[in-house]
Amino acid sequence: MTSLLIRGGTVVNADRSFACDVLCQDGLIVAVGENLQAPSGATVVDAGGQYVMPGGIDPHTHMQLPFMGTTTMDDFFSGTAAAMAGGTTSIIDFVIPNPQQPLLEAYQTWRGWAEKSASDYSFHMAITWWDESVKRDMGTLVQQEGINSFKHFMAYKNAIMCDDETLVNSFKRALELGAMPTVHAENGELVYLLQREVAALGITGPEGHPLSRPPMVEGEAANRAIAIADVLGVPIYVVHVSCIESAEAIARARARGQRVYGEVLAGHLLLDDSVYRDPDFASAAAHVMSPPFRPKGHQEALWRGLQSGNLHTTATDHCTFCAAQKAAGRDDFSKIPNGCGGVEERLAVIWDAGVNSGRLTPSEFVAITSANTAKLFNLYPRKGSVSVGADADLVVWDPQGTKTLSAKTQHSLGDFNVFEGRTVRGIPSHTVSQGVLVFAQGELRAERGKGRYLKRPAFGANFAAAKLRSEANAPTAVQR
Ligand code: URP
Ligand code: ZN
Ligand code: ZN
Repeated sequence: MTSLLIRGGTVVNADRSFACDVLCQDGLIVAVGENLQAPSGATVVDAGGQYVMPGGIDPHTHMQLPFMGTTTMDDFFSGTAAAMAGGTTSIIDFVIPNPQQPLLEAYQTWRGWAEKSASDYSFHMAITWWDESVKRDMGTLVQQEGINSFKHFMAYKNAIMCDDETLVNSFKRALELGAMPTVHAENGELVYLLQREVAALGITGPEGHPLSRPPMVEGEAANRAIAIADVLGVPIYVVHVSCIESAEAIARARARGQRVYGEVLAGHLLLDDSVYRDPDFASAAAHVMSPPFRPKGHQEALWRGLQSGNLHTTATDHCTFCAAQKAAGRDDFSKIPNGCGGVEERLAVIWDAGVNSGRLTPSEFVAITSANTAKLFNLYPRKGSVSVGADADLVVWDPQGTKTLSAKTQHSLGDFNVFEGRTVRGIPSHTVSQGVLVFAQGELRAERGKGRYLKRPAFGANFAAAKLRSEANAPTAVQR
């Protein structure tokens, strides 16, 4: 039996915090109480002056993703190992079939790639095309394979973009199955047009990237997806909300009673679009991701969304390409592989900018870094809570510890760090995965293949949302 006792810390859950010891045995939390005794042979961690929180869950990563003609630097081992060095103990990645590729074939491919994961992991399934086999396979994935969320890219025309017909068909099917539809909200037709218009102005460098994807392009898609979900009566989760326009679309819908959820990336909370005006191509290109970093002002709206409860989760969209890969777009910004890292830094930068600034309490931090994700994707309370019976995935958080973030010291195989040079206060001293110390005082002990695939059951009968729009405007028979 492997035992680990975390002694003398303050346990922080999303609902409360309290001084307590935590005893883990064989991968589970078996006791949360005062003055717990260490079983013989147990490893003991002194958490005095520190917080003991659920390990982070990153609901949006892309490890080993083939995308835009190349494949990300981090695979499932290096990416999850980096995550654990930063206190994140589970990821939800994406299976992304090529258009016309059977969903189950892509699913098996990703399951194979993910076998090397160091931490636990799960998958959202992207719907990139539609026919009866897709509809059938969605059922198999939900009912047999534990996938309860489907992703729709409203951008990336001529690649993985979903048109409205596919969105409607897939949302309707997700509702039948009790699965959550999610969207990358950007109007792909507008992006396609603007990329050409910007190029016609002679702008070929990375500064063209945000010009081709302005906030209203995201706002339009968010409003459209939310409206479709409303008409069908299905909840919806909007990934990487980056701007005021889509944050407001979510807040408006929620004020009407619609079940809409929003995810924010650590990068979008902290960085602005000045990064694209760096004369150094490599640095500007390293920041190319979609949606792009936004003009200052949008970040404050995202923080307020998290503070007010209109936005719910934080993620990274970890998708690392190195300088040589980014160079594919040297003469054409639309060919720069889209993606940035951050899976290792998410907790620290959000703690530093969110908790140290007073925007968030430690419990609110737990809500937006693990508990809300676990609840929204049906992993709770196995994940996202420090409680008896939960998986022993924990982070011991030193609120006084400091670190200067850098590509030179990161564990990710990416060669760039979007938070380069930022000194944060509040860092993990220890990370525990399946009851075992996988990171201790700077030493990473990630083990290839140790991570488990997490099945996420479908949502139950109460999943369907009221059809607010259609009921408010319900036609009444005209008396003649
Ligand atoms: O630029 C990004 N975000 N790359 C990954 C794919 C996506 O859109 O999530
Ligand atoms: Zn996306
Ligand atoms: Zn993504």
